[in-house]
Amino acid sequence: MTFTIRVFNTPHDAGIYVASLAEFVIMNKRNPVLGLATGQTPVPFYESLVRLYECGLDLSHVTTINLDEYVGLSAEHPQSYFHFMKSNLFSKTNLSSSCTFVPNGASANLVEECLRYDEILKNYPIDLQILGIGINGHIGFNEPSDTLIAKTHVVELRHETIKSNARFFDSEDQVPKQAITMGIQSILQAKKIVLMAFGTEKSKIIEQVVIGNVSTTIPASILQFHPDVMVILDQDGATDLLKNTDYLDANHLKIK
Ligand code: GLP
Repeated sequence: MTFTIRVFNTPHDAGIYVASLAEFVIMNKRNPVLGLATGQTPVPFYESLVRLYECGLDLSHVTTINLDEYVGLSAEHPQSYFHFMKSNLFSKTNLSSSCTFVPNGASANLVEECLRYDEILKNYPIDLQILGIGINGHIGFNEPSDTLIAKTHVVELRHETIKSNARFFDSEDQVPKQAITMGIQSILQAKKIVLMAFGTEKSKIIEQVVIGNVSTTIPASILQFHPDVMVILDQDGATDLLKNTDYLDANHLKIK
């Protein structure tokens, strides 16, 4: 068990902290590579990273590789993950457009697109991978299943994921049923992983991921095998985990 846990008062505070972790990588690597996530959770992190850029942090030499994208949505679609990244980060910093990678969900050949993405991942090993988590324990779009797939692949989204992500669309019908996602092996190959989760709805799954059994039915639990994972929570997201005080003490998990 190698998780290091930090519990912050607010997602905003957590975002500032994660941005400082990213800055450390950016300042100390010649060709830094960040693995990036979408969803509500990383927004405070992007806000803080943009603020750091505005305060002088150069991002022109940074490569970013996103975890996933909906199948069938073009880069211009307002709910595409590319569009999310453009509005929250790419358009607000000096990241180079030739070094910001997001899977192309509108590709006419998704098999080739997956291979292209794996080639990118091979060429740019990820230094710091930012992760959110789905309410069912998915990371990227690696959904609960009998098997966790190693490489970039097309996935059928589960009903609970479609329902949960409907909050970003006008209706549930509009949520794509498939996505392209980086595979579990690619995520685990990142040198350092930061898993962020905020709010009471993430509290139970975080408890299971951190102190439960490793199972393909909770994909994020496989992070227990990675040597350097930080779990970044707000008070609400940490509620269930922090009930296990004996367990946490016994394993020398660092809280706060
Ligand atoms: C999507 C993304 C995940 C993300 C999850 C949680 O399903 N594919 O990468 O972690 O949503 O989203 P949120 O942070 O909005 O709760």
